[in-house]
Amino acid sequence: MNKQASLPKQVKIVEVGPRDGLQNEKENVPAEVKIELVNRLTNAGFPNIEAASFVSPKWVPQMATSREVMDAIVRKPGVIYSALTPNMQGFEAALAARADEVVIFGSASEAFSQKNINCSIAESIARFEGVAKAAKDNGLRLRGSISCAFGCPYQGDVPLDAVADVVGRMRELGCDEIDIADTIGVATPRKTQAVMERAIAAFRVDGLSGHFHDTYGQALANIYASMEVGIAIFHSSVSGLGGCPYAKGATGNVATEDVLYMMQGLGVETGIDLDIVVDAGQYISQFLGRKGASRAGNAIAAKRAQ
Ligand code: HMG
Ligand code: MG
Repeated sequence: MNKQASLPKQVKIVEVGPRDGLQNEKENVPAEVKIELVNRLTNAGFPNIEAASFVSPKWVPQMATSREVMDAIVRKPGVIYSALTPNMQGFEAALAARADEVVIFGSASEAFSQKNINCSIAESIARFEGVAKAAKDNGLRLRGSISCAFGCPYQGDVPLDAVADVVGRMRELGCDEIDIADTIGVATPRKTQAVMERAIAAFRVDGLSGHFHDTYGQALANIYASMEVGIAIFHSSVSGLGGCPYAKGATGNVATEDVLYMMQGLGVETGIDLDIVVDAGQYISQFLGRKGASRAGNAIAAKRAQ
């Protein structure tokens, strides 16, 4: 059977490095470095960049400069600059910072919900109601992110019903897009398809995205498997930056350069310039003082240096 025929012709890649990537860095990354990174990513052609997070600075100190970043980035018309907003305080800050999209983030795992946002799943949904309404009233896009949809660092297995239930609640809140997130990177391709198929049944295929961390090296395979069931939106981090402060041992998101290289090879359009992303990856890796985590990015950089 020719699987190629069943892949989407184009996909939307959401660059989450400036938020999901950098939020996990222990050393302070100055606002000007974040701004330069976002500007480089804008120039690379991403349609959507997750640039900020309006959460408690006591919980995630690295994101405390979000307002400064949002104020100074050079915005390209049509590009969606997103910000995480766990509650109304976060929403007000995101609105003032001119975010185009706000992201409410819940979990399919009760245990992770407590650790990450200090409340139960039900409490989080109740808290998100105000944010969702305010987003609609102010004409902002609303995205819902569901952590631990494939496994949880605290409770282990996460039932498919739990994922479908939170997808349904996010849909009822009016989310334009819903992320199915593998926070700790434990999913494998068949499991990915099973979860995605349940999520599709609870929402709509063109509104779902795959957010894969690459802890166990399965992220590219999971993206491919997701495309086979019709998913056409994926999140990735330049240079594979990241992790989650509340998921010990979780490594970064799948590296953007690796995803783009795979999409190019498959003939799936992204509209993004891989060379500019490689440069952006080199820029942030140099700043952080370590080799980037993108295999394709490092290979392309090494080839250039020959
Ligand atoms: P809480 O302590 O339960 O909330 O935190 P609270 O309402 O009692 O407030 C306590 C203090 O936080 C108060 O300050 C508030 O003003 C302040 P104090 O009076 O003590 O000085 N506060 C805020 N400050 C700034 N912005 C806000 C805000 N809200 C309260 N929006 C809360 C609840 C959700 C705020 C907290 O638990 C929190 O900020 N958690 C951070 C969670 C987080 O950012 N996690 C990482 C992102 S999620 C992720 O990475 C997963 C994802 O990538 C998908 C995946 O891979 O799974 C999306
Ligand atoms: Mg994440």
